[in-house]
Amino acid sequence: MTLEWDSWTLGETRYLPALAGWHESLFTIGNGRLATRGSFEEPRTGERRATFVNGLFVHPEGDTAVLGAVPDWTRVDLAVDSVPFTLDVPPAGFQRTLSLADGVLTRTVLWRGPETGLARIRFRRVLPLDRPHLCALELHIEAMTAPIALTLETGIDATVGSPTRPAWVPVGQDGDRSNLTASYRSIDGAHDLEVTARLAAAGAVTLIADHAHPRWRTVLNLDTGESMTITKTASYRSSHDGDTPAPLPDTGFDEFAAGSKRAWSQRWRQCSIEIDGDPEAERALRFAAFQLLAAAPGDAAGAGIGAKLMSGFGYRHHVFWDSDVFVVPYLTVTNPDLAANHLAYRYRCLDGARRKAAGFGRQGAFYAWESADSGDEMTPAWTRPPHGEPVRILTGELQEHITADVAWAAHHYWRWSGDDAFMSTSGAEMIIEGARYWASRVDVNDRGAHINGVIGPDEYHIEVDDNHFTNRMARWHLRRAASVVRWLGAEHPDAYHRLVTKLGIDTGEATRFDRLAGQLVLGAQRNRVWEQFSGFFSLDVVDLEAVTPRTRSMYDLLGESRLQKVDVIKQPDVLMALAMLPAARRDPDVARANWDYYAPRCDHGSSLSLPVHAGLAARLGEPEEGYRLFRRAMGIDLEDSMGNGADGLHAATLGGLLQATLFGFAGLGLDRSGPITSGGLPEHWRTVGFTVLWRGRPHDMEVTR
Ligand code: BGC
Repeated sequence: MTLEWDSWTLGETRYLPALAGWHESLFTIGNGRLATRGSFEEPRTGERRATFVNGLFVHPEGDTAVLGAVPDWTRVDLAVDSVPFTLDVPPAGFQRTLSLADGVLTRTVLWRGPETGLARIRFRRVLPLDRPHLCALELHIEAMTAPIALTLETGIDATVGSPTRPAWVPVGQDGDRSNLTASYRSIDGAHDLEVTARLAAAGAVTLIADHAHPRWRTVLNLDTGESMTITKTASYRSSHDGDTPAPLPDTGFDEFAAGSKRAWSQRWRQCSIEIDGDPEAERALRFAAFQLLAAAPGDAAGAGIGAKLMSGFGYRHHVFWDSDVFVVPYLTVTNPDLAANHLAYRYRCLDGARRKAAGFGRQGAFYAWESADSGDEMTPAWTRPPHGEPVRILTGELQEHITADVAWAAHHYWRWSGDDAFMSTSGAEMIIEGARYWASRVDVNDRGAHINGVIGPDEYHIEVDDNHFTNRMARWHLRRAASVVRWLGAEHPDAYHRLVTKLGIDTGEATRFDRLAGQLVLGAQRNRVWEQFSGFFSLDVVDLEAVTPRTRSMYDLLGESRLQKVDVIKQPDVLMALAMLPAARRDPDVARANWDYYAPRCDHGSSLSLPVHAGLAARLGEPEEGYRLFRRAMGIDLEDSMGNGADGLHAATLGGLLQATLFGFAGLGLDRSGPITSGGLPEHWRTVGFTVLWRGRPHDMEVTR
């Protein structure tokens, strides 16, 4: 472990260049609208410096959309006695701390250049949770052992890549010795962005009106023991934003931090989890919640939650089922407003999903596997691995379960929140349009209704027929759509008639949904085990134990075409259905048989896999096994065990850990009287305490062994 923890802080006390990329992701701060990676203020070779504005995607020519990094506010070029400050010269002391209580990131470095005095340099930065347009940075420098001459430059830097080339083109700037405004147009010409910054610094400040990097320059002399502080604030306003935000307030850093702390405290009251007996797990869950809250938009202006949150360039910030299934259920029970905002994003994407369905000659809505701003499919058709031939990606065309996953998240939110206004408008429309997609998608023959040629959650097997997960979710979806139509007709006749007119619902539609659900096959069952897809039971058997432990995935070891023919799976598929649908695990013998069969066949080749297994093991009465998997899941972001930490954090792992704790170990569920738990805690967890919201009312839960 390279990280140092306190209950409310994550820290490090050594600078290890080899880990710097991953730590940039780990030390990301955000306020739901803006996020900034934990890259250092001073440039670092190999850095992936980035600030993101949630939802502000750009479409580079000939490529799929990317949440481009906006011009940077964090860069500070500092020279001590004319020697550039950089950690390429190893520091005499280094400490960085992320405070989960208020979102302030602090870094203190003791540094001397060759033949310079020792300087103590402290940076603090925050993206205040209560003022989502603003950023604040403070730099405090002290001359420790000898007088030093400092040169400092900082401004707004549009040369940052996204991840390679800049996403924003400068179109104008204006400034003086303390204020700076720069305007940009996105490279696709679709958006405008205005960044304003303000500097409060002593010394003779001059403005360098560089086209791509306008910046202030100041030169200062500090005597031994003397120190100075500069404060810089910035704000981002895009053509997406409605009202002009108030001008940059003339407040000090501490006031920004205090406001942020108040807003965070409110969130924490709703979502802290206490585990008596396991401070390490408790901290990991707090970190997970922090990063989800930092990336979840605080308003329903249109942004969703990306698979890498806003912490890196992985997956170009596209939104996958990771959010709907692994994050939104957790938010639903702790911060339902944030869950609702993500669902509002999905609703905004409904037209894109309709276009996708129509493109396949089908009806209703087929959600994008990778979604950006419009809801149109953004999965790249090809991937070009660094070594080897380009590989065709079919997930955008074939991973159809996404449509049912969105419906599932919406329905789960409705059950917990009681938000009938949501369900009677956008929720019902999404669910019904999705069901229509299934209705136009299935092939019916005399043996039942089939969904052929899909990719299930297990992406190692491509274009399979009657995938158990997909069919079971589609069946669930069709039945829910039927019941939502009936509920609407009975309880909200006005909303029902509006929707009937808008969607052209006919009186027989609910009945047809139900009938089709009854016809959908779930595949073969052998010794109680569901066949993952037609033909899975005949695949070559691979003994995964024999290649355990391994440092590379089975995808890397066997290659795509061989993987098709063997019974190794990337992530839970039949078990995913058991995890998501209580009805699928109602018979304990069936649940156990499927666990015994599929768990040993799973490669955990996806970051989604371990937390689902952890929660399900606990649900099936194996909390110790669940805990073993839970610890491994913790390592994905906190130890970079998958080796891709520099690309960003894993939303589904972080949400999955929280969900494994609440819905798995603590057995959180709903019955008619409200939230219930059915504890299956590991040995050393004496109690787990948390608060959930049900129909707007908080319920304090305490689960004991
Ligand atoms: C997983 C998917 C996941 C995606 C984004 C893939 O490797 O197999 O289930 O949605 O990553 O995290």
